[in-house]
This record gives sequence, structure tokens and C-alpha cells, in this order.
Amino acid sequence: MNSRHLIILMALSGAININAQRTVQTLKNGWEFCRGDSFNESVSQKVTVPHDWAIYGPFDRKHDLQVVAVEQNGEAEATEKTGRTGGLPFIGKGIYRTVFEVPDTTSRTITLVFDGVMSNADVTLNGKKVISWPYGYNSFYAVVDGIAVPGENYLEVACENKDGQSRWYPGAGIYRNVHVVNTDKIHIPTWGTFVTTPVVTKEYASISLTMDIEGTYNRQNIRVETVILNPQGKEVAKASNVFCARGQEFTQNFLVNDPDLWSPRNPELYTAKTTLSVDGKDVDEYETRFGIRSLAYVPEKGFFLNGEPIKFKGVCNHHDLGPLGAAVNKSALRHQLDLLKDMGVNAIRTSHNMPAPELVELCDEMGLMMMVEPFDDWGFRPKSPNGYGAVFNEWADKDVSNMVRHYRNNPSVVMWSIGNEVPSQWGEPGINELMRLRNTVRQLDPTRPITCGMDQVGEGAVIDNGFAAALDIPGFNYKPQLYDKFYEKLPNRLILGSETASTVSSRGQYFFPIEFKDHNVVLHEGNQSNSYDNESCSWSNTPDLDFARDDDHDWCIGQFVWTGFDYLGEPSPYDTDAWPSHSSVFGIIDLASLPKDRYYLYRSKWNDESPTLHILPHWNWKGREDEITPVFVYTSYPKAELFINGKSQGMREKNDSTVYNRYRLMWMDTRYEPGEVRVVAYDNDGHAVAEKTIKTAGKPHHLVAIPNRTSLTANGEDLSYITIQVADKDGNIIPTDNRRVKFKVSGAGTFEATANGDPTSLLPFQNPEMDLFSGAATAIVRSSNSEGTLIFTASAPGVKPVTTTIEVK
Ligand code: GAL
Repeated sequence: MNSRHLIILMALSGAININAQRTVQTLKNGWEFCRGDSFNESVSQKVTVPHDWAIYGPFDRKHDLQVVAVEQNGEAEATEKTGRTGGLPFIGKGIYRTVFEVPDTTSRTITLVFDGVMSNADVTLNGKKVISWPYGYNSFYAVVDGIAVPGENYLEVACENKDGQSRWYPGAGIYRNVHVVNTDKIHIPTWGTFVTTPVVTKEYASISLTMDIEGTYNRQNIRVETVILNPQGKEVAKASNVFCARGQEFTQNFLVNDPDLWSPRNPELYTAKTTLSVDGKDVDEYETRFGIRSLAYVPEKGFFLNGEPIKFKGVCNHHDLGPLGAAVNKSALRHQLDLLKDMGVNAIRTSHNMPAPELVELCDEMGLMMMVEPFDDWGFRPKSPNGYGAVFNEWADKDVSNMVRHYRNNPSVVMWSIGNEVPSQWGEPGINELMRLRNTVRQLDPTRPITCGMDQVGEGAVIDNGFAAALDIPGFNYKPQLYDKFYEKLPNRLILGSETASTVSSRGQYFFPIEFKDHNVVLHEGNQSNSYDNESCSWSNTPDLDFARDDDHDWCIGQFVWTGFDYLGEPSPYDTDAWPSHSSVFGIIDLASLPKDRYYLYRSKWNDESPTLHILPHWNWKGREDEITPVFVYTSYPKAELFINGKSQGMREKNDSTVYNRYRLMWMDTRYEPGEVRVVAYDNDGHAVAEKTIKTAGKPHHLVAIPNRTSLTANGEDLSYITIQVADKDGNIIPTDNRRVKFKVSGAGTFEATANGDPTSLLPFQNPEMDLFSGAATAIVRSSNSEGTLIFTASAPGVKPVTTTIEVK
């Protein structure tokens, strides 16, 4: 890269936040990237960061072919696995370069903060190595004083992904943000504060703010002034102290009267604004956002937030954003959380790795509790041959420390997990690893309990060997049928479903006859799973069993379902050599962010603010006339009557005769005839309170496009997810029309990506066309930096096109 080139890049480099004493520049634009060992200008491309080099594909069975025995599936012999990590080209090396400017380095400290680089990052600045960080999911930083220079600074980040490093699609490259933090030499360092709220009542709360101050010389006097701002930005408490700084931590204490408590319903956020000054001159200003809330895990009685009992209605999620890959985008995350909140979700488990900071910020703001988890592997007998286990011994403490220091001020984080289904659950080495992680976490944050996702419950494993007892909260992955036994044997007196269900279903795909197959693998032609939500894997079950445990015992503190969204990789039960099959079907919502039927089952149980009434399957079964086609209704109402073409099929009421009848209304013997299915729901007093109808659709007539948002921010990053379907002339959606649709975007935005939720589709996500799957696909559009109208058109042969507009402001 020549210097003229660099100056142009520099001008493009990203957002700068300035207060008087510190600036934070996020390096988004002006990066150059190439694959390979060394930078080759002739093949390099201009990219923006966050960037995921592998999501552009193409999909291919040859990528990361793994010959493994998946122990969790009970396999004893290694076999070839395709699509296990998504069938995308993430293995190999890549190099990124950019340049940023530092006005002056005199009396300044420059810190580079990386939110996450996948993986094995090697960072050099101005030709000098500044830091390496193997784990792709963690945030890390490097102070580059003495290396950063006034003027242009040349930053290079090399990374490498290895074969067999993962059990799912990890993404590739600088997939999270990079920041340049410029402070006075005397400053609060990265993640240098810790707020706790030791006493929380309705009337008052005590706040304790501990901080590090760096860059002082011995015994220097520093004035530290902190104001506490309430959610409306009004000052509600203040402290001003002079500390004689010699490298020790300082704590300031505050009383806040009449606090607005943080909870999923009211995610109220406070800010501690700290100003450091020396000899009357301000040198640093640091803001710590936090919430006031109390956590109590009470034996036998459950989990209490602000003194109120609350169960985890949680989901586990991997970090990928489907067709956007791993490249983080706040708008995409917000869309995920909006969908989950509407389902009634109140908690997220970041399985099995550290989240993007944007996700934690959103959970704080939107009111979702978090279980933050760092690892899928420890050092002892790791699951992935080239995964974290290879570096665990050297890196685990550093990784866990960064995680805890990064997120210990976030009120959404209510629990730390230290691992997932680690083979260390067996025996001595494992207990040592557990104690090591537990102690590191506890030392940095004594306020939150520690759990671990456990699955080894046989003789000699976690129940007997002290592993589960050493956790504050024992978290079990699956096996709800054994919870009573665990509860009786363990001293903890609480049980968490750290991972539940793993029901498999493909959106809108129905297979007959319908039988409930808990703990059994069922395979169908076309590598799809049944949308009647009656199938799981050998280790897993349908949602009903977990609902029952939560409903029946206070000591069950809730659950985290595997998973909220489908993700790239782990295409169980087609996780053998069943190519093409590259993404999971565990999700309640598919890879195109379209809810499956299962969404409404959870919604009917978990959303206690708005009622649910959902009918499945669709009613377009040409060729199945008069065949048994069961109808299920997922509803928050206790009973309902079903009509097919006006003929009553009888009333059903939720009851305890089977666990499925407890949560679903089912008509198992209904026969298909074209026309209309209507359901009328009744409340407990026998009043008809709601109804819903679905109809057999007629001939394809026109396309329908429904954006989730019709107004976007002109920041070049905001997204709208547009659902595309085919309708008949009366507007009935045709759930079986799978034609290819093409997209065009003009005006104030660009086409970003598309997906249809079909785990077997090999179409690239970035081309502006997609086959509908079960009658639907999603097109994602991105706002421009300037205001205007974004015009989106979808067209397909044989049906009328559709145009929709989105305002970009
Ligand atoms: C669990 C595991 C998850 C995922 C899931 C699929 O055992 O913790 O990462 O593999 O099974 O059911």
C-alpha cells in the first residue's frame, strides 16, 4: 500500500466519539483485506469492518470435512461429517490493513481495542508486533504507547482459522469492531470500573464504584468526581474525593433514593460519569452504564429479581446472524431480540462463547437477562481437535478475566457460565479446571452465581464426583426426566435447564403420520424435520417436557432452549454425510429470521402480555384429500373448537392426560379437504374470546413484501428484513410456492443479503435472488449514509411484482 493510497483510506476511517479528554475512534471503513500468508496488493480487496470473509461462500461439502465420532450423539466410531461447520470456506489465513491518525502522542495513551477477531489474531502497528490473541470470541486490547506515532499509524491484523477448530460455523476475520482509544496518560483503563449495588430496596439503593487509575506517578493526588445520572439523565448522587494514587484501586459509594430498578419489563439504566483531574485540570472522563437490581438464588424457592420470583424463559444462541455470517450488526441483533421478546423470552445464553458487546448493550436496553459463557472446550480431552482446548492451559485465565471485566457492569448479565458439556465432567483433571475457572470468576465478580452446562450425569460423573456440587447453580443440558434425582442428590437445592429441548423442525415442512418421537432420531427425504414439533435427537426432547418441569417445581429456575435461531453448521439430525445440509434445524426461528410453528408454542406459554392463537399445518394439500391431516393449535387460551369448512371437529381443552395435551390443543384425526380451517378459542369461563381462520389458497397471482421496519436511520448500517411470499388474487398466502424471486434496490440504500431458511439451499446469500422455501424468503436491505427513500422491488415469473418503500432518515 503506498502512502497516497493510505491517506485516502484514512479519510474514510470510521466514527469518532469525542469528549474533552478521551476520543474513541471505531475503525470501520478504509480496510484492505486479502487471504493468505502475506499481504498481496494485487489481489487485496477494500472491505469494511466488521467483516466475515467466509460468508460469501460458495457452499461446498469439501470445506472443513471432519472425520469425527461425535460423543454427544453417542457415536463410538469416527465417520466423515459434511456441513458440520456450515460448508463455508472459513479455514485458512487472512490479513487486514488500515491506517488511522493520532494527532499527538505527547502525554497520551493510545489503546487498541478489538471486540473480536476470528481467530489467532496477530496485531502489528507500524511494523511492530503489539499483541496476539488466539481465542476468536473474546475482546482484547493492547496499549501501544511507544509504538503509536503522531500522524499516520499503520495497523495490520493477521488471523488464521484451522481445520477442526469448531463444532459450528465460527466466521472468519475481523468480524467485530476495532477501536482506537486516545486518553491522557492519567486515565481509567479499558474495563477499569466495577459497579455493584450491595443494597437494593424500593426506597433506596447503595452503589459502589471501584476503579483503576493508570498513568500516575507515585503518590500523585487525583481528584475523582463521579456523578450518578438516573435513566432520564438527571443527577441523583455525587461524590468528589482526592485520592493519593499509587496504583491501588479506589471505591466511591453513593446512596440513590427511590431507584428505578432494572428488570426485563423496565430496563432502566443509570450512568456513573467519572471525571479525573490533576491540579484543577480535567484529564479523563469515563462513563460506566449500569442498572440497579438485586439477584437472589434462594434454595428450594428459585430465582428472585428485585425480590420477585422469576423463571428463565431463555434461549441459547450462537453468534452468527444467518445470511450476514458472523459480521456483527447491531440492527440485525436488535431484530433477533425483538422477535424473541415478542415470543416472551426474557433471557439469552451466549452459547458457547463471549458475546459481541453490542448484544450485551442491547440486552441491557431491551430487558433481556444474560448467561454469559466463554467455552465449549477446556483443556482435558477437548471436543474439537484444533479448538480452544489446545490453548486452554495458557489462556483460560486471561480469557475469563477479559470476559468478566468487560461485562460485570451490565445489569443484563445475571449469571456466568464457565463452560459447556466439557469432557472434564469426568474425574480429577476436570475438577481442577473447574476450580481454577470458578476462582478466577469469583475473584473478579463475587456478585453473580456461576454455572456450567453439564450433560454427563452417569455413574461417577457430575452428580457423584463433586463437579455439580461445586457450582453455585447446577445447569443441566437436557434430561428433564432426571431433574428430581439430581435435585435430591445435590446440595445446591436449585436446578437450571441450561440447555433444553433441541427439538428439530424445518419451517413449514410437515411429514405424516404424526407421532411424538422424544429421544429418537427421525430422518425424512430432503433432509428436513417435521414442523409439527414432534421430533428431536437421541439426547433431546420436545418443548412440552421442559415446560412441565418449570411449571411443577419452584426449584426449577427455568431454561435456555437450544436454540432461538437456526445457525450455520451442526445440521443434526443430518449431521453425517448428508450433504447438502449446512445449518441447524434446532432453531425456533429459521436462518431467514422467519418464525417456525414452534415459535407460537413457546409464545403461548411465555408471552403473558399478548394472547397467542396459531393453527398448523397450512391448508394446501393437493393430493392429500381425505387423508388424515392432524391440526394443532398453539394458544394461550385453555380451550378451543375447530371447524373444517364449517363442520365442528370438536372442542379440545388443555389437560394432564399427556404432557403434550397439557400444552397443545390437538385434533389427531382430522382429514384434509380444501377450504377453510377455523378455530374459536374460549376462556376459562366458557366465553368465546378469539378466533382465527386459514384457507386453501388459489392460483398464484402476486408477490407480497412485508418489511419489518419502514423507517431506517441514515447511518449506513441499519437494516430492514423484508418477508417475500406469493399470494392468490384474494391475498391468501401460498405456503407451497417455491419459485425463484429476484430483488432490486435503489435510492437510499443497498441490497444486503437474502435467505430462505432451507438448510439444504446452496444459493449464495449475497446474490439478489432466492428460491422461496415453504413459500417464503427474506431479503435484507441496508440504509445508506444519506437520507432519502429506499425502493425495493421483488419480481418472479408468472406473478405480479411488488414494490415497497422504506424511509431513510
Ligand atoms: C448440546 C450442545 C450444543 C449443541 C446441542 C445440539 O449437547 O451443548 O452445543 O450441540 O447439543 O442438540
